[in-house]
Amino acid sequence: MAVESNGKSDSLQSICYERGSLRLLDQRRLPIETVYLDVRDATDGWNAVRDMVVRGAPAIAIAAALSLAVEVFNLDFTGTSGDAASFLVKKLEYLVSSRPTAVNLSDASTKLQNIVLKTAKTATEAKTVFQSYIDAAETMLTDDVADNKAIGFHGASFLPCQLKDSGKLSVLTHCNTGSLATAGYGTALGVIRALHAGGSLEAAFCTETRPFNQGSRLTAFELVHDKIPATLITDSAAAALMKAGRVNAVIVGADRIAANGDTANKIGTYSLAVSASYHGIPFYVAAPITSIDLSLSSGRQIVIEERSPKELLCSDGGLGKQVAASGIAVWNPAFDVTPANLITAIITEKGAITKATADAFDIKGFIQKAQGNGIE
Ligand code: MRU
Repeated sequence: MAVESNGKSDSLQSICYERGSLRLLDQRRLPIETVYLDVRDATDGWNAVRDMVVRGAPAIAIAAALSLAVEVFNLDFTGTSGDAASFLVKKLEYLVSSRPTAVNLSDASTKLQNIVLKTAKTATEAKTVFQSYIDAAETMLTDDVADNKAIGFHGASFLPCQLKDSGKLSVLTHCNTGSLATAGYGTALGVIRALHAGGSLEAAFCTETRPFNQGSRLTAFELVHDKIPATLITDSAAAALMKAGRVNAVIVGADRIAANGDTANKIGTYSLAVSASYHGIPFYVAAPITSIDLSLSSGRQIVIEERSPKELLCSDGGLGKQVAASGIAVWNPAFDVTPANLITAIITEKGAITKATADAFDIKGFIQKAQGNGIE
């Protein structure tokens, strides 16, 4: 299978961008087919996010931002610089409405809105405002890969020393947090990549991640692609795997982390954390700072997306034939919230955050300290 990689042989790419053109790898068709879809404007970007052509918190944010960059690059616009800023703000608000739980997209939207509004204050032409937007969206693409590599580095240093084990680690992960969920390399899967590269990984285990199967279709695909020793399990086999002593650590990504460390991530994450706690296995979250929402004091305030019943009623995450009895009611939350007390540490691009008390992290304090140390 040919996989495009933006010239990088070491990492799969879901986002193929050149100024004025964006193509997204259709993740619904992996691993059977490798098909890229053209994204010409914010409407295409909104649809691609909503329909899960592209998914994963960091990838959603970057793909949406770039869809608008492509639109304005190719736009024949006759308004003022103020009109250009209003145009961009409106489109960004529209893009944020595509999926509610991951904070990365609204965080990106706020940052981009601030940039264009600031530029519009002094710019005399609309094209200057559009250019500032395009430059900032492109920077998000490049920054994400660097952040993920830093997460991988910190995770690969932190996990082995936390575990006080000189041997290799077997690590269980959930959903897809790899190159496909980000601009490249990945968050939790980035840590697994870094452990493997450093010779510290015995094996990876990935869950199927029902109902959309991001684990069996995407994580398994990435692990096989990178020749990392790995085994696929059903979501419901995780506790038995832990009981059998086959896992030293669990590491997952995040879609939104509240100020106290409560973490929203793919449905099933909470069950893994409960099982890990029961079996005395450390449970790590790996995510960029852009996944942290300091405006929320706890996970109770996180809005959880509920998706179509079709994803459960039909095979293949809703894309195939009906398999469930007609007439059955369905509850299909896409995410759950793992309380901070079940999380051992949060690995970010600025380092590992450990708990301030038994039940909570002081994430704001960690970020302020990192900024004070010039780690920005
Ligand atoms: O619904 P998805 O596939 O967009 O889910 C988001 C995720 O990919 C996961 O929850 C992931 O662990 C966080 S994003 C790196």
